[in-house]
Amino acid sequence: MSERVLIAPSILSADFTDLGNAVRLIQDGGADFVHVDVMDGHFVPNLTIGPPVVKALKRVAEIPLDVHLMIDNAEDTVGWYLEAGADWVTVHAEACNHLHRVVQTIRGAGARAGVSLNPGTPVEMIRDVIGDLDMVLVMSVNPGFGGQSFIPRSVDRVRRLAAICAEEGVSPLIQVDGGIDPVTAPLVTAAGARCLVAGSAVFCQDDPVASMNAIRAAAEKVL
Ligand code: DX5
Ligand code: ZN
Repeated sequence: MSERVLIAPSILSADFTDLGNAVRLIQDGGADFVHVDVMDGHFVPNLTIGPPVVKALKRVAEIPLDVHLMIDNAEDTVGWYLEAGADWVTVHAEACNHLHRVVQTIRGAGARAGVSLNPGTPVEMIRDVIGDLDMVLVMSVNPGFGGQSFIPRSVDRVRRLAAICAEEGVSPLIQVDGGIDPVTAPLVTAAGARCLVAGSAVFCQDDPVASMNAIRAAAEKVL
């Protein structure tokens, strides 16, 4: 049997007046995570949601909340998201002065720790913390907005990250976020990704659950 690919629909593309039902819909439909995009208007040029919304989502989520912090100075506020109920917390390597310390804080609170890399950041820079991570997120768009086009070079970045994991003898979950749909999904899973974030290719479709499952099916076909 082939390996399973985990799907993390991003509620950034859901109807913000009805987030509870968006979470129920995808979890009943078989999603593995609820991907929550937190943006601060500084690290990325957009402003979305914060700890009170994470806390509210936690009340309806029966699957793990995968909180993607696109914020500066995550070391100052990561505790807010942990207290709000984030199960997985991903910070950006570019936004943390003390990346190792933030990872320890996340794990010390009992959550799973991820580190994300922007498209312009060399994947090699993750090597010295990779043994402390539960997940590495390879951004396949420049973060800030849903609905952007997949950057083709991301496939090679995933491949090089998978090679670093093998060299270091570790196996964090490799997640890819941005422009994922049934066409791009198999490209990144063939390169080593095992968790895919998808926003517009799920929530902007007529049937979000069928769309989510089509992404998973396409992604698993190449394994
Ligand atoms: C982008 C966010 C993504 C975004 C993905 O900054 O981190 O999670 O919601 O949206 P799509 O799948 O539409 O590219
Ligand atoms: Zn995201």
